[in-house]
Amino acid sequence: MKQEWKAFARAIAAASKREASVEEVEALLERPRDPAHGDVAFPCFRWAKKWKQPPQAIAQMLAEQISHPKWEQVEAVGPYVNVRFNRERVTQEVLSRILHEQGSYGSSYRGEGKTVVIDFSSPNIAKPFSMGHLRSTVIGHSLVRIARKQGFRVEGVNHLGDWGTQFGKLIAAFRRWGSEEAVKADPIRELLRLYVRFHEEMTANPELEEEGRRWFKKLEDGDSEAQHLWHWFRKESLREFHRIYDWMGVTIDHDHGEAFYNDRMGPVVDALREMGLLRHSEGAQVVDLTEEGLPPCLITKSDGATLYATRDLAAALYRRETFGFDYAWYVTGREQAVHFRQVFAVLKRMGHVWADRMEHIPFGMMLQNGKKMSTRKGNVVLLEEVLQQAVARAQKLIEQKNGTLADPEETARQVGIGAVIFHDLKHDRLHDVEFSLDQMLHFDGETGPYLQYTHARACSLLRKGKAANVVPGSLSLPVVMEESWRVVTYLSDFPAVAAQAFDYRDPSRIARYLLQLGQAFNHYYAHVHILQEDGGKEARLALVSAVAIVLKEGLHLLGMEAPEEV
Ligand code: ARG
Repeated sequence: MKQEWKAFARAIAAASKREASVEEVEALLERPRDPAHGDVAFPCFRWAKKWKQPPQAIAQMLAEQISHPKWEQVEAVGPYVNVRFNRERVTQEVLSRILHEQGSYGSSYRGEGKTVVIDFSSPNIAKPFSMGHLRSTVIGHSLVRIARKQGFRVEGVNHLGDWGTQFGKLIAAFRRWGSEEAVKADPIRELLRLYVRFHEEMTANPELEEEGRRWFKKLEDGDSEAQHLWHWFRKESLREFHRIYDWMGVTIDHDHGEAFYNDRMGPVVDALREMGLLRHSEGAQVVDLTEEGLPPCLITKSDGATLYATRDLAAALYRRETFGFDYAWYVTGREQAVHFRQVFAVLKRMGHVWADRMEHIPFGMMLQNGKKMSTRKGNVVLLEEVLQQAVARAQKLIEQKNGTLADPEETARQVGIGAVIFHDLKHDRLHDVEFSLDQMLHFDGETGPYLQYTHARACSLLRKGKAANVVPGSLSLPVVMEESWRVVTYLSDFPAVAAQAFDYRDPSRIARYLLQLGQAFNHYYAHVHILQEDGGKEARLALVSAVAIVLKEGLHLLGMEAPEEV
């Protein structure tokens, strides 16, 4: 109802003889607690002093002056101006618009001609895909769709951790204990096994650390054995990651990992030196950021090796050059907040004003029994296992519910994956999330399957009502009842919610909105015989169809699928 509210605010602002702006009025609007009092109310208290009149009198005066063809009633009730919309007309407008625009309902052109680079997922090749990377993948992928919905061109970048000392360790471990067949058979698990073993044996044999470092140095110097192994590990891991992405329905435009910038490191360090920004500190080179209130940003180590931050500097310059971005977002855990503040500060020092439009988009941790889920020590929860379990459980649930699905396996995949995605996205991005397979998979409660099920219910009604192509035209809901009005209210807010999700870089806005819409619709469904043959059937089916469209598009923005049957 944001649009209708705005029209009301405009009228009040005009009647105030420009005492207040539309925005000021809008901020004060309320929804009357008792729906009998109308659909929106303006409280006049604030103006009493300025206008030297009691608020009741102000309300009276304003109510007499304003009117609108879409309002049924304007009334001063005590200090409030209440308006009751012509619900039938508003309902008809909202539904026609949705049925007409279909999946593009809620889209906007605000991003036209502008580009956002979104850096997300970005797992590390020597280590498995962690739950933190799952969060980054799911949040980032949803933000890609949210930004596209606002009309932005989006370039998604997978900043893979494919370079660094861990590769020295991995090469050393492979040469000691590894075999080609084992890596080929199950790359991520085997590389993880080698990595974990290396760390375990390192406690007893500290020399291993040095051995790992030597191999990384060889790799950096272009040693052919080291290079060969690195390429191969990378290729095998990437193949696995992509299998997981495909399974999850995630696409990322560019696999530009850290190694991609190898030949751009020299120029970055040179540029910093020429600008006089580098300081020596115990053999290392840093950019001092005292003025910004940040720790120094490490650029090269004493052995000349470059660091994570150096690579992010090179990556930012490359992206600006290649994509000409207007915004650059980095979706990682909040523990990297200082790192990104340093990187942005160094870019600013280099004179790049566009660094002001770079943002770290942090998120909370994934917890298990209140503790961070770790991948280092071997008490690993492999993402793939989590997804497999989710899908297996979804399959069981689906079989209990519906034995006649055309492709139960594919539906189970959509529901299982959807459950994992939604469980992550329904939480405020910054909150920690307690991991629970049990909670993810309920068909009722605040879950992905609940929404998919609600969508499928709507589709089934449309099939039974033979109304796959409900045409907007002379629709009227003969009696606009409270239950359908609530649904319409939510439906009409979808564009505003989609925009908010962009403004706050937070998919949970959409997730929570969909739950409200789903609840409102199920409530309506419980109260009304939608398919009853009477004059209102077509209109009711139009409502159902609009709900199906918005649920499907909302789930799509979260990166989820909306099967027509579950
Ligand atoms: N691979 C990194 C990690 O796992 C995340 C990379 C995030 N992106 C970036 N440009 N630094 O922590």
